[in-house]
Amino acid sequence: MDQYCVMGNPVAHSQSPWIHARFAELTGQTLDYGRRLVATDGLADAVRAFTAEGGKGCNITVPFKFEAQALAQHASERALLAQAANTLSFLPGGIFADNTDGIGLVQDIRANAGFNLQGRQVLLIGAGGAAAGVLGPLILAKPTGITVANRSPDKAQALVQRHTPLATLHRVALQTSALDTVPGSFDLVVNATSSSLSGAGSPVFASTLKPGTLVYDMMYGPAAQPFMVWAVAHGAQARDGLGMLVEQAAEAFSLWRGVRPPSAQVLVELRQHLAQH
Ligand code: ATR
Repeated sequence: MDQYCVMGNPVAHSQSPWIHARFAELTGQTLDYGRRLVATDGLADAVRAFTAEGGKGCNITVPFKFEAQALAQHASERALLAQAANTLSFLPGGIFADNTDGIGLVQDIRANAGFNLQGRQVLLIGAGGAAAGVLGPLILAKPTGITVANRSPDKAQALVQRHTPLATLHRVALQTSALDTVPGSFDLVVNATSSSLSGAGSPVFASTLKPGTLVYDMMYGPAAQPFMVWAVAHGAQARDGLGMLVEQAAEAFSLWRGVRPPSAQVLVELRQHLAQH
């Protein structure tokens, strides 16, 4: 049976085995998808061992996404731009690194939330690994503008600078901002910071919102709650990152298997599953 897994540390909480098992069932694919806890300095060894056992590919989660990209012999354009990978394919010519996080976010916003990104104003909060993984695909969705706001301005500037050629090509206005002086209000506000983990409500002021703004936290479960509660209290629509999780997995599954799984159905099922467990 073809073997896949998710590698991370921690990895026990990962929903990826559940999601991929359901994708396989629904598409009639025969595969096994496990989870592997990897020592913080052990990614290269873990990947080598899994390849030697006949593994076909793996997903990579915290804290290995940067290292995974560096391990690969080949990489997609979006992984190169993100400087991070969440999906490795073990091919005859070597390891191919891809990053499906950003397309997962865009797909969830477009298809599951029914929100058209074209012509919209977007605020992306954060400039770490999570933000880097999604900025390229957000640009490709052709909003009018994207403002990247971050606590450390130099990180936002570096991220924006790296994406400026792509943004120019697609006529998307890219700018940076400090968290407390974000200019204007937005149609979509995406939280890609880890500030929720400290229980803080929002890293930005409510002046960034307007009626109907879609506020999106890339986390899910309790970690997403403070930001979502803040958004709803200010009249916005709030959405957590569970759909992004399912959609990034769907993209990886398509890449590996050449078959598109019914991701919207699996998202509904996963919400039910998590509510019961
Ligand atoms: P990840 O891979 O999850 O993005 P990261 O690369 O460490 O993790 O980035 C964390 C992001 O959350 C950064 O944008 C960070 O801001 P800095 O670049 O200034 O460090 C942001 N962040 C973390 N805690 C925060 C807080 N309490 N308030 C605002 N931003 C915070």
